[in-house]
Amino acid sequence: MADDPDLSAERYEKHREAGEILAQVREELVDRVEVGTSYLEITEWSEEHIRELGGEPGFPLNISVDEEAAHGAAGPDDARAIGEDMVKFDIGVHVDGWLADAAVTVDFSGNPELVEASEEALAAALDTVEPGVHTGEIGSAIEEVIDGYGYNPVVNLTGHGLGHWDQHVEPNVPNRAAQQGIELSVGDVVAIEPFATDGPGKVREGADEQIYALENERSVRNRQARQALKQITEEFRTLPFAKRWLDVDRVGVALRRLKMQDVVHGYPVLKEQDGNLVSQAEHTVIVTDDGCEVTTRSA
Ligand code: CO
Repeated sequence: MADDPDLSAERYEKHREAGEILAQVREELVDRVEVGTSYLEITEWSEEHIRELGGEPGFPLNISVDEEAAHGAAGPDDARAIGEDMVKFDIGVHVDGWLADAAVTVDFSGNPELVEASEEALAAALDTVEPGVHTGEIGSAIEEVIDGYGYNPVVNLTGHGLGHWDQHVEPNVPNRAAQQGIELSVGDVVAIEPFATDGPGKVREGADEQIYALENERSVRNRQARQALKQITEEFRTLPFAKRWLDVDRVGVALRRLKMQDVVHGYPVLKEQDGNLVSQAEHTVIVTDDGCEVTTRSA
């Protein structure tokens, strides 16, 4: 145990601070959202509120509805409003690059059991977390609960480690029993995110794309692209950002250039089969001596 990291170190305090801000924003967001709420309005509200509380968005607010599992988000001039849908809000907050990541499903579609399936799967997963637990064991707990409800876990989406200015690092935490994986150690910071669905349990890429991240920093000639790249490297660094966050003219041109040169990559919306529904629950944890600390739980 002599090698265990000091969990009172500044980086962990910042993870905790990000988690507290996230929990508060999530709680208020759930109270505010109703059928008819505009995507843009709730997204802008969440960003402002995160900043008021002393954090920064760790990634754009994901609003994914019905068969969409992840990476839905408000676009510039987005006119959409929440309907009688199953709505997943995935929220990211960072404090000096140290992240919290959590999600909640708000259901206006009348399928409470599907929501419960992912929430109970998350609770079961959190119960398994302690030093030495294999990530496959966590996935097995998730799969068992979702199976018990008669639904499928989405198997090609996983939980993940949270690095500094890096929203997706090793280890992956599967949503099913898996042989491959690693054992968690004290001090690991991990987001666990079960998705439950009445569909086949495999998402594919859709057409809409609102979220991007820097991939390779290299010089570009196009003026708009250069301007966008400057803002990306200064403000978002390697964290995901929204198309609507870029203060450049002809943002579509800028992003197309940056993508063509592999400077940034996009995160297209990820969807189950049309007509199916997906629910999601997610918390961020710090692995401790005797279990884990959930940084994104409401006080
Ligand atoms: Co998340």
